[in-house]
Amino acid sequence: MKVMINEIPKEFQIKPYACDQYLVNGHLKTWKGATSNVYSTIKTKDSSGELVPTLLGSIPDMETPPALEALEAAEMAFQRGQGLWPTMKVGDRLKHMETFVEKMKEHREEVVKLLMWEICKNKSDSYKEFDRTVDYIIDTIEAYKNLDRKGAKFDKQGDVYAHIRRGPLGVVLCLGPYNYPLNETFCLLIPAIIMGNTAIFKPAKHGVLLIAPLLRAFQESFPPGVVNILFGRGRKIASPIMETGKIDVLALIGHSSSAVSLQDLHPNKNRLRLVLGLEAKNPGIILPDADLDHTIKECISGTLSYNGQRCTALKVLYVHESIVDEFNRRFAVAVDALKFGMPWEDTFLTPLPEPTKPKYIQELIDDAVSKGAKILNKRGGDLSDNYCFPAVLYPVDESMNLYHEEQFGPVVPIISYKEIDEPLDAMAASDYGQQVSLFGRDVRKIGPLIDTLANLVCRVNLNSACQRGPDVYPFTGRKNSAVSTLSVYDALRSFSIRTFLASKDTPYNKEILESLLNSDSSNFVSTEYLL
Ligand code: G3H
Repeated sequence: MKVMINEIPKEFQIKPYACDQYLVNGHLKTWKGATSNVYSTIKTKDSSGELVPTLLGSIPDMETPPALEALEAAEMAFQRGQGLWPTMKVGDRLKHMETFVEKMKEHREEVVKLLMWEICKNKSDSYKEFDRTVDYIIDTIEAYKNLDRKGAKFDKQGDVYAHIRRGPLGVVLCLGPYNYPLNETFCLLIPAIIMGNTAIFKPAKHGVLLIAPLLRAFQESFPPGVVNILFGRGRKIASPIMETGKIDVLALIGHSSSAVSLQDLHPNKNRLRLVLGLEAKNPGIILPDADLDHTIKECISGTLSYNGQRCTALKVLYVHESIVDEFNRRFAVAVDALKFGMPWEDTFLTPLPEPTKPKYIQELIDDAVSKGAKILNKRGGDLSDNYCFPAVLYPVDESMNLYHEEQFGPVVPIISYKEIDEPLDAMAASDYGQQVSLFGRDVRKIGPLIDTLANLVCRVNLNSACQRGPDVYPFTGRKNSAVSTLSVYDALRSFSIRTFLASKDTPYNKEILESLLNSDSSNFVSTEYLL
């Protein structure tokens, strides 16, 4: 699991990069205070020839005063709804976004290389993350045009005319996760700002340097204060910002414990909107008549793509007792056949980016084994500094930590069931409710099951692994798994509120409305059709 720098293809070799800039009020400021080194868990030789975690660079370890300065900049740009950005014509805001996406595209190779080194995502998935994000922005621009076109009219109910649109909410604090540091963060940030909000954005703990190449693109594309980017610890940056009560929307993809502690700091909770994508424990339910070849393929990708570090990963498999032995045997062989390698080798399995993760996975395995589970695959649990080979554990039950915790890593718990009520009751009792995968064929069984499952989670995947995409589909969850809905279209709604001009139908008002429409004096009132 160690690699020499000269064994790495030239295009993927990396030199440490010191990021000393942050973006506040349209200025790329130089940070002169303390910095934190950024390491990859992938080891390379240091100058003395010893194999050590690779130093990728450094980022500012910012203090509270510049964070509050960023908040002030975002507030000034929003200006309680009176700022240039929130009152700008939609078409003009979209032009800023088009400028940004063009500039962002220029940094594809740098960002992808950093994705591979910082979060150890394999090459194709790193490219996919970048390209998917670019597509998301382009689709968001189109979706907003469409939304705007639908509002480009007057309704009339009784004697009241209404021109109904969506308006921004205010200042957004945007915090993303390490597993999709570009995609998931931008899926919050982009719709937030396009709707006329202003934002303060702090990257996750891992996957942070890759934002550095984009700082200038943000600076050059948006008016001052619309996007402010900070680096450092949550407790010095996010917490003091929340305590001011000046945040209108908390947009966070991560753990509910972080979301709850940040909400708790806000003095006016009723004024705080939440857009949250949180943890999940998506089950795969395998019915007796499931096509095992296909099911095993989907379960491998569902449980272990990107080492299971996806909120949508399958985190527990319920297999009917009549087929569990065969499923386990074949699944264990398939897991052991998976290839481990470096991200640029584009293998399915790659190192774990969190230094403490291999030990945590090992603890989950030890706990389950001490309570009666067995590791079914030969390589399961093989441990190194930056990896723990995926372990398939069976039988798993409620006494084990693995049953309850969102492992977010390479370990697959399997539970056998006799009656379908067993997995259904477990899902109903669970704190999570994002998605489920249902594998089977008999429609008399599947039909009523879908009726129940649709009320336990927010997406039922028939004979396929759970996933977020395509991004035009709603992505949300019940219970501890989410607040609000994200999709290209839904995110525009989540970051805005309906607001409208109403006017009684009198000759006096009619004349005013007509000249308003002809005068181009309001950016809000417009029947212009955005192409
Ligand atoms: O971490 C959660 C991501 O939203 C999952 O997205 O299903 O495309 O991997 P994905």
